[in-house]
Amino acid sequence: MTTPKRYLVTSALPYANGPKHIGHLAGAYLPADIYVRYLRAQKKDVVYVCGSDEHGAAITIQAMKENTTPKAIVDKYHAMLKSNMADLGISFDIYHRTSEPLHHETAQAFFTDLNDKGFLEQHETEQFYDEQAQTFLADRYIVGTCPVCGYDNAFGDQCEKCGTSLSPEQLINPRSTLSGNTPIKKATKHWYLPLNKHEDFLRKWILEDHKNDWKSNVLGQCKSWLDLGLQPRAVTRDLDWGVPVPVKGADSKVLYVWFDAPIGYISATKQWALDHDKDWKPYWNDKETKLVHFIGKDNIVFHAIIFPVMLQLHGNILPDNVPSNEFMNLEGDKMSTSRGWSIEMEDYINDFVKQPNGGEQLVDALRYYLTAIAPETKDSEFTWKGFQDAVNSELVAVFGNYINRAFVLMHKLCGGKVPKFHNDLMDDADKQLLADILTTKATIEKSIETYHFRDGLAEVIALARKGNKYMQDKQPWITAKQIGDDGQPTEAAQALIDNCMHICLQLAANLAIFINPFLPNTAKKMCYMMKVVDKMLDWDNAGTTKLLSVGYSLRAPELLFRKIEDAEVAAQIEKLQQKSNQLKMNEQSTDAAETPAAPILKDTIQFDDFAKIDLKVGTITAAEKVEKADKLLKLTVDLGFEIRTIVSGIALHFTPDAIIGKQVVVVANLAPRKMRGIESNGMILMAEDAAGKLKFVAPNETTNNGAGVS
Ligand code: 2FM
Ligand code: ZN
Repeated sequence: MTTPKRYLVTSALPYANGPKHIGHLAGAYLPADIYVRYLRAQKKDVVYVCGSDEHGAAITIQAMKENTTPKAIVDKYHAMLKSNMADLGISFDIYHRTSEPLHHETAQAFFTDLNDKGFLEQHETEQFYDEQAQTFLADRYIVGTCPVCGYDNAFGDQCEKCGTSLSPEQLINPRSTLSGNTPIKKATKHWYLPLNKHEDFLRKWILEDHKNDWKSNVLGQCKSWLDLGLQPRAVTRDLDWGVPVPVKGADSKVLYVWFDAPIGYISATKQWALDHDKDWKPYWNDKETKLVHFIGKDNIVFHAIIFPVMLQLHGNILPDNVPSNEFMNLEGDKMSTSRGWSIEMEDYINDFVKQPNGGEQLVDALRYYLTAIAPETKDSEFTWKGFQDAVNSELVAVFGNYINRAFVLMHKLCGGKVPKFHNDLMDDADKQLLADILTTKATIEKSIETYHFRDGLAEVIALARKGNKYMQDKQPWITAKQIGDDGQPTEAAQALIDNCMHICLQLAANLAIFINPFLPNTAKKMCYMMKVVDKMLDWDNAGTTKLLSVGYSLRAPELLFRKIEDAEVAAQIEKLQQKSNQLKMNEQSTDAAETPAAPILKDTIQFDDFAKIDLKVGTITAAEKVEKADKLLKLTVDLGFEIRTIVSGIALHFTPDAIIGKQVVVVANLAPRKMRGIESNGMILMAEDAAGKLKFVAPNETTNNGAGVS
C-alpha cells in the first residue's frame, strides 16, 4: 500500500472470563501499542480499538465455575481487563465490550446481510448432545484427547496444549464438561459460512499478494489450512448466551462467538466515532485505510482466513497485515493461568507498579523486557532473572545511566543550561554521533513499520550505548581541570566541554523521541526533566540537534529506573511455585471429592485361582483397525506354539504400524469371545497410568515366544 490515508489498528479482544497474563500482553497488546504510539508521533490518522470478548462458552463455563451468572462474570472481568491494560500503558482509543447493544445490532446486521445475499448455507448435522444436561455440546462444552498431541483435556474448538484448532468430532474419547458423560449424537440445524467456496480468493490474497509482507509464521499456518482444504464452518450455536440469531424461529440459537467477536472491532470503531463526533465508515470501507490486526498465534486462522472472507462478502476492506506473535513461555514451562503457571497483569501491577518503590517506571521496565524478548519469530521465555538482568544491565546501566550522567554533568560543568555549540570545533566523534542519530531514526522506522519491535528497541539502547562511549571518550570532567587564574576552566576548555554537553543533551532529547513508542512513561519523565512539552516527542523532530535551545535551563536529573533486587526475583519465583502447587492440590482434592475412590485392590484370591491363568509371551506380527470400531485393533500374535487372533481395545493409544514386532504378555487360556464379528482368542496385558495412558506389559528382555509367565 502506498502511504495510507488512515490506520485502523486492532488487538485481539480478550475473553472477559478471568485475569490475563503477561504473555497475552506481549502477544497482541504491547506490540500494537508501540505501533500506534509511533504512528501518533508521526501525526497519522490512527484509531486503535479493542474490547472484551464477552460471549461464548469461555464465559458461561467460568460462570458455572464461580457459581454465578455470565453477566456477573463479564462485568467483573471486563472492569479488571480494562483497568489492567490502562495501568500498563496500553493506549486504546476505545476499549469496548461485545455485550453492548451497539455490538449486538452490528453483529446481527452483518449476519443478516450475508444471509440475505445468499452467502451463508443452512445444514442439518448430527452434533454431540449431553442427555443429562439436555444441551448440545460445542466448543468448550466438550473435552477429549487431542488427536495431534495426545493432551487429554483438549476443548472441542482448540487444544490449549499444542494450539491446534479442532472440531468436536476430532476429539478422541469426547466427554461433556457439564456432566462428564459420553455424549450422544443428535440432529440440529445451523448456518454455515462456506469457506470452501473462497479458497481461490484466499490463496491468491494471502499466498501471492502478501507473500512478502506477512510474517512467515502466519503464511505457514494459512498455507497448511489451505492445503488441507477448507470446510464450511458453522457460524451459529445452540446456546442461550450470545448474540441471538436474527432469524424468525431461531430462538435458542446465537451467533458463534468467533463470528461475532471480530465484528466487535467494527462496533468498537462505531462507538469511538460516536464518542468523538467522527465518521466510522471510512475506517472499514475506504481502500486507503490500512487495517492491521495484532493477535497471538492461536488466533491466526480466524483473522487471516475466516474474518477476511466475512469482510470481503460484506463489502469491507481487508487487513493489510495480521502480525501474530508466537507464545511466551515462563520459567521453562508454557504460561497458563489455569495451571497457575503465569504472571497475571493484575499481579505484576500489585507487586511492582503499585508498591511504594514502584510507579510508572516499573510499567516501562516490564514493557522493556517483554519487547526485548518478544516471541516475534519463535516462542520465547520469560524468566525473573532475565527480567532483572535486562532492567539492571540495559535500562539502568545503559539508558538510565546515559541520561543521568548527561544531566549531572550539564549541571556541574555548564551551569544547568544547554550550552552553546561551536561549529568550528566540531570533530569526527561529534559528526559520527550525529550521523548515528540519523541512521538510528531510519532503522527504527523500518523496524516498527515491518513489525520488528525487538530490533527497533535494541536500536534505541545501542544509540544510548554510543552516547555513553562518546561521553567517556571525551571526558569533559577531565577537560574541566584545565583551569585559568580565576579557578574556572579556561575558555578553550569550556568551549570543548560545551560542545560535548550540547551534543549529549541533544542526543538525550532524540532518545526521548525514540524511546517514546516503547516506554512512554520514560519519555514523559525525560520531557519533564528537559522542561519541554510532549509536542517535542513528534517523530519528525528526531534527527536534529536543535531540539533544546541554547541557554535553556533544565531540571535536575531524576533516576529513570531503579534496579530489580535479588530478593524480588526470589520472592516472585517462590510465589509462582506456590501458586502452581496450590492449584495442583486444589485440583486433586476436587477430583477426590467428585469421584468416588476406586478400591486400590480387588478381593483376595487363593493361589489356586491365580494358577488357573495361563500367561504366555508372544510377538505381535500384524495389526489392523477394526472397521466401525474406534477403539479396537485386530492383532495377530505369534505365541511360538501357535498363531492367534486377538482383538484388543487399544486403537486410541497405538497406531497399528507402531506395535508390529512388540513382545507382549497374553492371557492364553481365556475363553474365546466374539468382538465385532471377529473371534478373539486371548487378551493382551496392559498397564494403565494415572492419566489413563496404556503401556504394554512385556518381559524386560526379548525372550522366546511361548515362554510362560508366572
Ligand atoms: O482467543 C481469544 O481470547 C479470543 N477472545 C480472541 C478474539 S479476537 C477477535 F476476533 F475478537
Ligand atoms: Zn494438542
